[in-house]
Amino acid sequence: MRWFLFAPLLLALFPVFLHAQEKAKPDLDGFNTLVTPFLEKHCFKCHGTTKQEGGVILHKLNGDLVAGPHLRRFRSIAERLIKDEMPPKDQPRPHVMDVKKVTDWIAGEMKKAGIKDIKTVTLDLPKFGNRVNHEQLFKCGADTVIDAPPRLWRVSPYIYQTFARNVGKARTDVAQPFSVIPGHGFKDYACESEIDEPTTAQLIRNANAIVEQQTRYSIENGKVKPIGFAMPREFIPLFDPAKTSTRAEIEKAITQQFNLVIARPPTAEELKRFADLMQKNIATAGQVEGARSTILTIILLPEVVYRSELGNGKPDAKGRVMLAPRELAFAIAYALTDRRPDKLLLDAAESGKLSTREEVQKHVERILDDPRIEKERVLRFFREYFDYEDAVNVFKNVKDNPNHEPRVLVADTDRLIQYFLDRDTDVLRELLTTNKSFVAYSSDNKTKKVVMAGAANKKFIPSSYNVTKWSEEQPMELNPRERAGILTQPSWLVSQSLNTDNHAIRRGKWIREKLLGGSIPDERPGPDLRNVRPLRPSSRHRG
Ligand code: HEC
Repeated sequence: MRWFLFAPLLLALFPVFLHAQEKAKPDLDGFNTLVTPFLEKHCFKCHGTTKQEGGVILHKLNGDLVAGPHLRRFRSIAERLIKDEMPPKDQPRPHVMDVKKVTDWIAGEMKKAGIKDIKTVTLDLPKFGNRVNHEQLFKCGADTVIDAPPRLWRVSPYIYQTFARNVGKARTDVAQPFSVIPGHGFKDYACESEIDEPTTAQLIRNANAIVEQQTRYSIENGKVKPIGFAMPREFIPLFDPAKTSTRAEIEKAITQQFNLVIARPPTAEELKRFADLMQKNIATAGQVEGARSTILTIILLPEVVYRSELGNGKPDAKGRVMLAPRELAFAIAYALTDRRPDKLLLDAAESGKLSTREEVQKHVERILDDPRIEKERVLRFFREYFDYEDAVNVFKNVKDNPNHEPRVLVADTDRLIQYFLDRDTDVLRELLTTNKSFVAYSSDNKTKKVVMAGAANKKFIPSSYNVTKWSEEQPMELNPRERAGILTQPSWLVSQSLNTDNHAIRRGKWIREKLLGGSIPDERPGPDLRNVRPLRPSSRHRG
């Protein structure tokens, strides 16, 4: 593949990278009108002229973070604020939106000062979710206007994966360009990932792998014969060795690739631009290379990896605008599934039937009610919230735990969640209290009968669920004195344990953070003292 063929286009296609370097001018106005009044109201009492608690003086701060002397002080202010440690707990709390404005301002100024690591001073990180003021969050009264500026969302790694598989078909070997947050809890956040150089390089390699599949063919009796399933019919004339493709054929192929890749046809302007490019590339590099490289550029369109929320239409009384119909279609699809909006959603958007609350509701309900549409996002939410899928990552010594089959345990809990979701009454209550459980559940592909999962290991059952007899009647009733909901499912218990032991602290942390919506401060930075033996009292420590 000759990269030079699309290099110039790439630059134009990824406008996101080209954020003009902001001129580093400190926002002193913002300091005076936003930050100072906030500090005055909440902090000067203890860090001002009368008191300087902890040796901290805040009434004489220099608001210039670019050249001024107080950059580090601002960082510690922001850190204290987002951890909700200042003002101290017994003081009136500042409003969460005011805190956000101040920490965002500090983060912005730090960025101007060339500091890259500003994540720790912004409230945007998922782990701070629980710090959102719950009263504000759930109040949502008529007076609450949620601050949702126009934005681009990066698609999730799962959506990208599904996309690559759909376009490149089964054999496409793509590596994930985006990462999910490792460890426990919610894992995928658009705000966590920037599309930087290594990501771009991977996206290009992936696009190449996809096109490789899309353009596999052999020539038989002088005719193009696709190999595999990924090549669209419209591509065939492009690779015909007997003749040069016509403009009409080129336009057809480009239109098809647009539809496949971003679920819409090109605009007239785009069609002209890409058709011109293909003709130019063919002239430079020959028919096959020229066609391939142009097909590839389409896979690198920003719309493949971003979805927009720019909105359109007239603002309402509070200044809010609806999302454009097509944006809504994607927002709905990606809220429930890992796939593009289906045809019904896209058609509705196209024909102006996706612009009211009721029309949106109709489609959400349709998708939820259709058993043929897999709702990956819904189950994933429960998986990440309850945090039981990590069971597969906890290593249990096979010798001591010969019957341990974590994948089966996770699948059982998945099934239990699905069961209560289908019944749709008191879902969370049931999930936290039920003594029902799927036990090594599986269903035979052909007969659809319930069979025991992990059947290679018949002893599996009693050890994990403490039942003496496995039954086809599922879910089974477990001993109510031993089991109450997901927190007593083997998958969850294993997930919150260590390789060799249970881990009461991890379980407690889950309950405190996830169930009670509280937070547990991060460990204090400093030497890890857990494995250090206590010092013997010595003569110097008498008294
Ligand atoms: C009721 C008194 C009180 C108020 C109000 C208060 N603080 Fe403090 N602050 C303290 C005390 C006491 C300490 C020292 C103990 C500590 O570090 O927790 C401190 C320490 C700090 C530190 C030092 C951290 C370090 O690592 O050196 C920062 C930064 C700070 N406060 C920021 C603020 C900010 C910002 C506000 C307002 C939003 C605020 N404080 C409001 C009492 C207060």
